[in-house]
This record gives sequence, C-alpha cells and structure tokens, in this order.
Amino acid sequence: MKPRAPGSRRAAASLALIVAGLLACSLASADEAWRWDLPRGFPVPVVPADNPMTTAKVELGQRLFSDKRLSITGAYACASCHDPGRAFTDGRARALGATGELHNRSTPSLVNVAYNAAFGWANPDIRDLEAQAEIPLLGEDPLELGLSGRETKVMDELQRDPELRAALERAFPENAQAFTLLHVRRALAAYQRSLISASSAYDRYVFYDEKEAMSVSARRGMDLFFSERAGCAGCHPAPLFMSPAVYLGTSPEPRFHNTGLYNLDGAGSYPENGTGLFEHTQRPGDMGRFRVPSLRNIARTAPYMHDGSIATLADVVDHYASGGRNRGPTGEPGGRSPLQSAELSRFELRPGEREDLVAFLESLSDLNPPYAGDAETGAPPSPR
Ligand code: HEC
Ligand code: HEC
Repeated sequence: MKPRAPGSRRAAASLALIVAGLLACSLASADEAWRWDLPRGFPVPVVPADNPMTTAKVELGQRLFSDKRLSITGAYACASCHDPGRAFTDGRARALGATGELHNRSTPSLVNVAYNAAFGWANPDIRDLEAQAEIPLLGEDPLELGLSGRETKVMDELQRDPELRAALERAFPENAQAFTLLHVRRALAAYQRSLISASSAYDRYVFYDEKEAMSVSARRGMDLFFSERAGCAGCHPAPLFMSPAVYLGTSPEPRFHNTGLYNLDGAGSYPENGTGLFEHTQRPGDMGRFRVPSLRNIARTAPYMHDGSIATLADVVDHYASGGRNRGPTGEPGGRSPLQSAELSRFELRPGEREDLVAFLESLSDLNPPYAGDAETGAPPSPR
C-alpha cells in the first residue's frame, strides 16, 4: 500500500463528513424556527400563526425583495424604491413606479415594520405585511411593480429558476410544488419582519450604558425630545419612536394624527392627492391625519413626511416648533389649522436647541445595520 493512500482516503472521508455536516446544517436551518435576536429594550413582535418565521423563509423573502422579475418591465423590484442602503427608502420626495409614474407618497423606511399596527401612511385597513404586499405587486393606481394580469407568467418564470425553486422548497417544505403569489407575499413578509433596527448610538447610550456613545449636544436634544415643552415622545415614544406599536401581549388599533403641514382654506384642507385618513373614511375630521412613522434611521431617509415636502431634519424641527407649518395655497403659512392635533403647539427653541434636537435624531441611525447593503465603514461593532 502506498503511504499516501490512507491519508488521502482519510482526507476524502473527512471532506465527505464536512460536506455532510454542512448539508445537515443547512437542512437543519431550513425549517428551523426563527430566533429573534432582539436587543435590550425591544419587545417581541407578533407573527401571524399561518406564516411562522423560519430562516429559509426570510432568505427566500430577501431574494424576492430585489428580484426584478417581479415587475412589469423586468427592471424594477421592491428594493428599487426601498433601497437597503438608504434604510429602505429612495431619496425622493415621491416614489417613482416601474413605468415612471409618480406616486403620491414618499417611500417609507421598512425597519421595524414588524411592529406596525397598520401599513401605509394613512391606510387603516391593511393590518399585516402579507396583505400589504399585494399593493406594490398588483396595484395599478399608483402602479408600483405592475404585475396585475401577469401573475401566472411571472410565477412560471420563478419556477424555472433552479436556485429559486430550491429556496422555495426550503422555505415552504410542506407545499412547494409551484410558486404562487401567496408564497411570494409570505416570504416577503417574513423577510421584512426580520429587519430590526436597534444598533444606534442612542441604544448604546440607553440600553448598554455606553456613556460616550452620544455627544453632549445629542444628549441635550434627547432631553428636549422627551420634554413636555417639545412633546415629541407622546407620538414617537421610545424605543421604536413610532405609535402605536404592536408586540406580544398588545393589540392597539392604528391611530392617525394631523401635524399641521397644510391649511389650504382656513378649514384645514390638505392637497387633494394627500388627504390622509380622510381618503379612506371621508370623515371631515380625518383630513390630513397620517400614521406616526418611526424615527429610526431618520437621518438616512430624507426628504420627510408623507409627501416628502420637508427637506431636512432642521426644517422638520422648525415645522414643529412653529406649531405646524400650515402651508396655505400660495405656500405661505395659512394660520393654525382647526384640524391640527391638540398635542402639537408652538414651542420656543433656545439658541442651539435646533442643532441639539437634530443631533439626537441623528443618534437614532444604525451604526451597524443588521441588513445588507449599507456601506457604513469603520463603524464600531453592533452591541447585539
Ligand atoms: C414605486 C416604489 C415602490 C415599490 C416598487 C415598492 N414600494 Fe413599498 N411603498 C412605497 C410607497 C410610496 C409606500 C407608501 C404607500 C402609501 O402610504 O400609500 C410604500 C409602503 C410600503 C409598506 C408600508 C410601510 C409602512 O411603514 O407603512 C411596506 C411594508 C412596503 N411598502 C413593502 C413593499 C414591498 C414588499 C415591495 C415589493 C413587493 C414594495 N414595497 C415595493 C413605494 C414602493
Ligand atoms: C401628535 C403626534 C405627533 C407629535 C407630538 C410629533 N409627531 Fe412627528 N410625526 C407625526 C406624524 C403623524 C408624522 C407624519 C406626518 C405626515 O407625513 O403628514 C410625523 C412625522 C415626523 C417626521 C418625519 C418622518 C418621516 O419618515 O418622514 C419626523 C422627523 C418627526 N415627525 C419628528 C418629530 C419631532 C422632532 C417631534 C417633536 C418636536 C414630533 N415629531 C412630534 C406625529 C407627531
């Protein structure tokens, strides 16, 4: 027997073992129940019983999120508007659909959507991510991805992709004969639920006791944010900075507020293409009422508000400090709107306080985002 033979057999055998081990690992992780890796201070999200989280489903959802086959042009995806590198927004005031059509709304961030009570800027009826996905996939007015009428063709295309089919089998082992829109919606929902944002300077300072994580100015801004004078936390409470938030053990109804962005006619009218909750209820008092968005990663998601009509965080602070911008028909202040939330009133900004509040809002950005695509370099490791 040649001396090298046993060695190479051993090598081959151990290689086989490694391969088998890797295979076992990947099989085990395929339908492995999801373990939330939640940072301190974060509540456990609610997951629908018919769409449990698994690693494999999140992985399939992540692929589909940037799969351009899911669009009328073959050149657009969820990620075209919800760019992971911009905390899942697009940098535009108003979104642009697959065919170039301008949307009436600004693209919202998707971090921490697992906690939303309702989805969209002012839609009280969409209550889970599985249902929400129908809007961008199939909606025609506005057109986002434009799949309506082409579902079968596109599902066939996905089905012909061997990698994707394997991912489908791992994600839905009980029911993977053929791609359906339901698979797509469920996988996208699972992926989006996994996008937890919690590694900001603020988290380190508050939950991990790292005293140097926030600058002195950001700390002053934090005091002001949580003060009665500015009153921000009433609507944007920590640790999610949105409201209401749904997590295990709670079931709050969605709520909507008018922050006094417009007062076109003295009676509180908003522009016709952005009337908020009113569009859904037709109740006059619902004019201009919108959902309270999260402020996590807010420094990365300019421009601001449902229509992107405020360019910078300093301008947002001025809007609130002036007791509501209340833009009239010519762009000039139209006087306090009778529909504006009673919780919002003018407050004095002392010298330096605008900058402090902005510094605080900036401290809510992930230093080490848990999702791919962010090119932040040199950031210290996540505390998670
Ligand atoms: C054309 C750009 C565009 C595309 C493409 C797009 N979205 Fe959106 N998305 C938006 C806009 C704009 C809104 C706000 C809609 C509204 O309030 O009426 C939104 C809202 C959402 C929301 C609600 C978030 C919240 O906090 O209320 C979710 C979830 C979402 N999109 C997921 C997706 C998924 C999944 C896809 C792909 C299947 C997708 N989007 C494709 C622009 C887009
Ligand atoms: C009465 C509830 C309420 C209070 C109080 C409040 N907000 Fe808001 N906030 C909202 C709503 C609702 C929106 C979305 C409004 C819209 O788009 O028309 C919003 C939007 C924002 C946005 C833009 C978010 C985005 O994704 O575009 C920022 C930033 C913000 N608020 C910061 C603050 C700060 C700072 C304070 C305190 C000075 C504050 N808010 C107080 C309800 C409130």
